[in-house]
Amino acid sequence: MKTKEVVLSGIRATGRLHFGNFLGAVHNFVKFQNAGHECLYFIADLHTLTTLDDPEKLRSNVLEVAKDYLAAGLDPDKSIVYVQSSVPEITELSLYLGMFQPLGELMNVPTYKDLVRKNPDRVSHGLVTYPVLMAADILGPQTTLVPVGEDQVPNVEIARSLARRFNGRFGHTFVVPSMLNEMVRIPGLNGDKMGKSDASNAISINDPISVIRERYLKFGITDPQRIRKSDCGDPYNRCVSIYPVHEVVTKGEKETRQIAKACLSASLGCRDCKLKLVDSLAEIIGPFQEKRASLDNQNDYVKDVLITGGKKARQRFIKTLENVREKIGIRIF
Ligand code: TRP
Repeated sequence: MKTKEVVLSGIRATGRLHFGNFLGAVHNFVKFQNAGHECLYFIADLHTLTTLDDPEKLRSNVLEVAKDYLAAGLDPDKSIVYVQSSVPEITELSLYLGMFQPLGELMNVPTYKDLVRKNPDRVSHGLVTYPVLMAADILGPQTTLVPVGEDQVPNVEIARSLARRFNGRFGHTFVVPSMLNEMVRIPGLNGDKMGKSDASNAISINDPISVIRERYLKFGITDPQRIRKSDCGDPYNRCVSIYPVHEVVTKGEKETRQIAKACLSASLGCRDCKLKLVDSLAEIIGPFQEKRASLDNQNDYVKDVLITGGKKARQRFIKTLENVREKIGIRIF
């Protein structure tokens, strides 16, 4: 990683942040911000239109995600926080990029194929071109680093190849961004990927810590082969819901492996290990919930943050767009 990257990522406005995108994504966004990189984080309301057809819901979701972003530690003085639709240059760039995007490639994207399989009647043009819009998000501000989860890798690959194709034809125009697929997959209580907060394997970041503790103690699956406390556990390969989260939230664990060693040597039982995990979570979720509550009736403040963020983001997009229009021959006066 360079000392100063331009980091960009976005989240769709399908609902409030859940445990998975809170710890797996936004927690990471804050780390990039605090490491001094130039960061752009946005709410992808246009992308949300591919699956949500409810204006009231979309509007309120955007505001809720913005509040979650701020409560999680995104600082509008350090990061550019904005709503995708407040930057009209994104839609314009998406149209230009679309001219250079083979259709066949789009129809082979796994997430697209998945949605077609699940919902063949709702395959819109917007859904097919989803990755092109995403490429506009990424290439417009000259992003150098895109942190995303596993499922987004093919989409970012499309952005990278669009940048290369365009640069090849017109000379250097776009940075070809690197991808950081380091965002962690957060397992739910049964070890599967954590679902939305109403799923039975989920933990809600909005629940009181006492409820989170109870759910982990009752439902959190550890190493199924560790039957007695005196059996040695295997935190790395067999503990399905607890150790992987320790690695993300327990300070110093990745360096010292204290908990892993205690599990391997049977000096720490699963119940105590769960309690330790919840203590670590409380350190992150506690301040989040406090800040989130203070933002509940601060809609005007949050909107102001988004308006300012939108203006800052536009500056970056406008620069790129001027160059792109010039190169492709759009506008003679
Ligand atoms: N498609 C992403 C998701 O569903 C959201 C997104 C839109 C995004 N544009 C982006 C992520 C640009 C990273 C960069 O999670």
